[in-house]
This record gives sequence, structure tokens and C-alpha cells, in this order.
Amino acid sequence: MKIIKAKDYNAASRMAANIIAAQVILKPDCVLGLATGSTPIGTYESLIERYKNGDLDFSQVSSINLDEYKGLSPENDQSYRYFMNEHLFNHINIDKNRTHVPNGLEPDSEKACGDYNKIINDHGGIDLQLLGLGLNGHIGFNEPADVFEKETHCVDLTQSTIDANSRFFASMDEVPKQAYTMGIKTIMQAKKVVLLATGAGKAEIVKKAFFGDVTPQVPASILQLHSDFVLVGDEEALSLIP
Ligand code: F6R
Repeated sequence: MKIIKAKDYNAASRMAANIIAAQVILKPDCVLGLATGSTPIGTYESLIERYKNGDLDFSQVSSINLDEYKGLSPENDQSYRYFMNEHLFNHINIDKNRTHVPNGLEPDSEKACGDYNKIINDHGGIDLQLLGLGLNGHIGFNEPADVFEKETHCVDLTQSTIDANSRFFASMDEVPKQAYTMGIKTIMQAKKVVLLATGAGKAEIVKKAFFGDVTPQVPASILQLHSDFVLVGDEEALSLIP
């Protein structure tokens, strides 16, 4: 595990963008594994800036996102496809046909997950996987569990997640109750993994995940065993590590 400590959110975002930019420059047809959530927004802004400056070309890059809510269409502004379009894809020269997010509109979970595994395998896996970190140690929607789920699977969202999301929807019926997520094995098979953690709120879980036991109760802890894992954090998120 390699740790990169940045001063604050903006510096950490630039560091993560540096690593992704290096990947795109060294392998223009690379496969990027991408995340949503609040943490990577600054990284995406930094990548967009470099693209606009003429320093990066995404025309041959493919992307495979971690997760998507089951039941949400790409046009729904709460969907992760919408998020990716808004925060990255609409602003760079990536071919949208090469960007992949689980199909939230596929009601048959087995089919949705099988199709996504096929997409990942057809690409020969992921060159660089960018991750955020949940407060309970989740990565993607891989929540604390008794075992590490291997491949793409459908997860039941916890009631607290459903309640938290309800503010974004007109009625409780519209709030997604399930999501499709890439599995831990797929994440571990990425050639390089970069996890970005920022803010004081992440300090406890960063310490637990990367300096505690490797256990499916803290899904991110398995990254300790990855041969090319980089933790990029700001001073606040890394404040409790030895
Ligand atoms: C997003 C994802 C999640 C987030 C995590 C952290 O695609 O898979 O695991 O990375 O919930 O979210 P933020 O960055 O909002 O703290």
C-alpha cells in the first residue's frame, strides 16, 4: 500500500487526477473503473481542466463504473449514469459508447449482473480503479457482510440509505430499494486501485480499513492485500493513521 498525503480536498483531488492522467497518457486505450459520490467530483473537475488545456485525450479510453441504482433510468438525475455524464463524460472527448454503468432499468437482477460481468471480462478487466470510501468501509455498494461478494451482484439498500435518499424523490415509492454493484473480486483484479478519502469524517474508517484487520465487515480492508493500491487522502482523513 502506498499513501499519498495531500494538504486538503483540492490538493488530494489533483493528486488523484495526476495518477489517472498518467494512466491515460501511458495507455491511451486504458480501461478506467470510475466511482460516483461527492469525493471524486474534484478529481473529475481536474481531469476536465487538463482535457480542456489539451493535455489529455480520452478518445480511446473505456470506462466501467462501480454501481447503479436498480430501477432508475439514465435520465433520472439521481442515477449514477446521470452523475457521470454531468460530472465528467459531457465535458471530455470520451466516446459515450465506451462508457459503462450497470443497467438500472434491467429488472432481472441475474441478467443485469451477468451482462455487466461480461462487459468487464470483454474488456480484459480494469487498468485503474478509482474508489471512494463509505463511512462503514463500503466500496461500491459492497456493504459490511460475512463474506466478500465476488462479482457484480444486486444489493438491498439499508433502510438508513433509503431514508437518506428519500429527500431527492417526490415520493417514497420512487426511492430505489436495491442497487447493482461491481464485486470485490473484480475490484481486486484491477491492475491498480486508487482510493480517495477526504475530510475529518473519514479519519476513523481510514484507520480501521487500512490499519486494522482484513475482514468483510470492513470491505475496503481487503485493499491492504492488493499489490498496487494507492490511498490518496487529505490531512484530515489521514489524521489518525500511525
Ligand atoms: C460510489 C460508490 C460509493 C462511494 C462512497 C463514498 O460509486 O460506489 O462507494 O464511493 O459511498 O461516498 P462519498 O464520496 O459521497 O463520501
